[in-house]
Parts: sequence; structure tokens; C-alpha cells
Amino acid sequence: MTRTYVITGSASGIGRALADRLRGEGHRVVGVDVADPDDGSVDVVADLSTPAGRSAMVDGVTEATGGVVDAVVANAGVSLPDPLTVRVNYFGAVATLEGLQPLLARGTEPRAVATCSMAVLGPLDDELVEACLTGDEEHACAVAEGKDLLTYGSTKRALARWLRRAAPTDAWAGAGIPLNAVGPGVVETPMTAPMLATAEGKELIDSAVPMPLHGYAQPEEIAALMAWLAGEENRLLCGQVIFIDGGSDVVLRGDDIW
Ligand code: NAI
Repeated sequence: MTRTYVITGSASGIGRALADRLRGEGHRVVGVDVADPDDGSVDVVADLSTPAGRSAMVDGVTEATGGVVDAVVANAGVSLPDPLTVRVNYFGAVATLEGLQPLLARGTEPRAVATCSMAVLGPLDDELVEACLTGDEEHACAVAEGKDLLTYGSTKRALARWLRRAAPTDAWAGAGIPLNAVGPGVVETPMTAPMLATAEGKELIDSAVPMPLHGYAQPEEIAALMAWLAGEENRLLCGQVIFIDGGSDVVLRGDDIW
């Protein structure tokens, strides 16, 4: 059956690969992005780092879909050592999921997916994680000042924790909407290209993200799992971050979680 998907960050990388896959299968995709490459990958141009941009996203998606959506994929993100990362990765993603929940509630076999990261495993800053979860964006951005490389993992950990808290509640599980996330390792996209282009950057990434199984991923490989999480077959996963990371979780955490 043809479904209507909303994908943020559809202009590039993982979001684009997912959008291409779903469109290729005949589904309707409403792509959202702050960038507009003018090649059909973006239907709603909106800046998810600001409250006004998030409202514009909800309005644009509502107009494009008539207010009925079958799956939402909150995927847009940045990896910068500054508070913009807090605004996009945590507050933008949560606003996407919460803002589009009423549209999902009117959908068929509705599903919600976020893009977290193996970076939820750390290193991160607990104060910043907690600050995000208070919902006070300006406070969280102030806390993020100077946290540099700890910022990215902290925003993804906060998103994973928000999702785990939200998934079993009336708005999600109670409304029949599985809410889950993917946790990729290193994926070869424009986000990671600058790091992977230098021997020094590559060494840093390889030591932080060990990937004994097949090494770096391609965006299409992550998109395949996201398509399943956002599809009708996924009825029972609730609040999970599925690591699709070539083994970095098991190498870094070992037996710890069981
Ligand atoms: P990318 O840079 O290729 O794509 C990200 C997209 O998000 C871009 O099209 C960008 O314009 C959009 N975006 C950024 N800020 C935005 C804003 N304020 N409003 C709306 N759209 C905005 O990056 P990639 O790798 O495809 O990343 C997608 C997601 O996957 C991100 O959430 C990222 O954190 C996550 N991720 C990426 C990994 C990697 O190794 N590439 C690993 C784990 C997670």
C-alpha cells in the first residue's frame, strides 16, 4: 500500500537515501530541509533550528499532506562543536516528532523514527543531556557553550532518552504509533566527508568508533533499516535505539548492558 512519509534532512546523506528508496517503491515522500538543492529532494524548506522554522515545517507538511501522515522520520542533524547542534539535533528533532504527532495519529499504521547515533554511548556531558531534557532550549544552549566535541553525543543521548520516555505514553504507544530510532556508526555522507578526508581525522574517528563488521556504512544501508522501522511490519518495537554500527556498540560496551 502506498504510504505518506515525512523525512527531515532529505536533501543529503541518509535522509536523501531513504527518500530515494521510498519514492522508488512508489510511496509519497514529503522532504523537509533547510537546504534546497532544487532537484526535487525537498518539498518543505524549513530551518529546524528555530521555533519559527519548526512551525513553518508543521504548516508546510500539513498543507502538503492534508494533515494525514503515515510515518515521520526526524533525521535532520548537524555535527558541529557549538549550540546549533543542540537546536537542530535535540530541539528540532523533538519538535518534529511532537509537532507531527497529530498528523500521524490520523495516518494508517503510523510510525515514527529518529536518527540517533552510536555517539549516544559517549563521550558526552551529563549536564547538557539533562539540560536538553528540561525542554528549556536557551538554557541548554547556554550549557552547551564550550562543550565542543561533547555536544554532539550529548544531543543524541538526550534524544534517545526523550524517545525512551515518550514511546510508551498515550501519545505514542497509546495511539498505536511505534516510536524508535536508529543508531548508526560512521556513515559516508557529506557530514563525515571532511573528517574522513584526512589521515588524522580518520584516525580519530576509527579510535572513537570501532567498526569490525564491514567498516564504514553507506547511507543506503542505514535507510534500509529506517524503512523497516517506518513501515507497516514494525508493530512492536517501542522506544528502542537500534544500533546499526558495524559493531561499535558491542566493542565499546561489551557485556555491560546485560
Ligand atoms: P548530511 O549532512 O548529509 O545531511 C543532513 C541533512 O540535514 C542536510 O540535508 C542538512 O541540510 C539538514 N539539516 C541540517 N540542519 C538543518 C536544519 N536546521 N533544518 C533542517 N534541515 C537541516 O548528514 P547525514 O550523515 O546524512 O546525517 C543525517 C543524520 O544522521 C543526522 O541526524 C546525523 O547526526 C545522523 N548520523 C550520521 C552519522 C554519519 O556518520 N554520517 C552517524 C550517526 C548519525
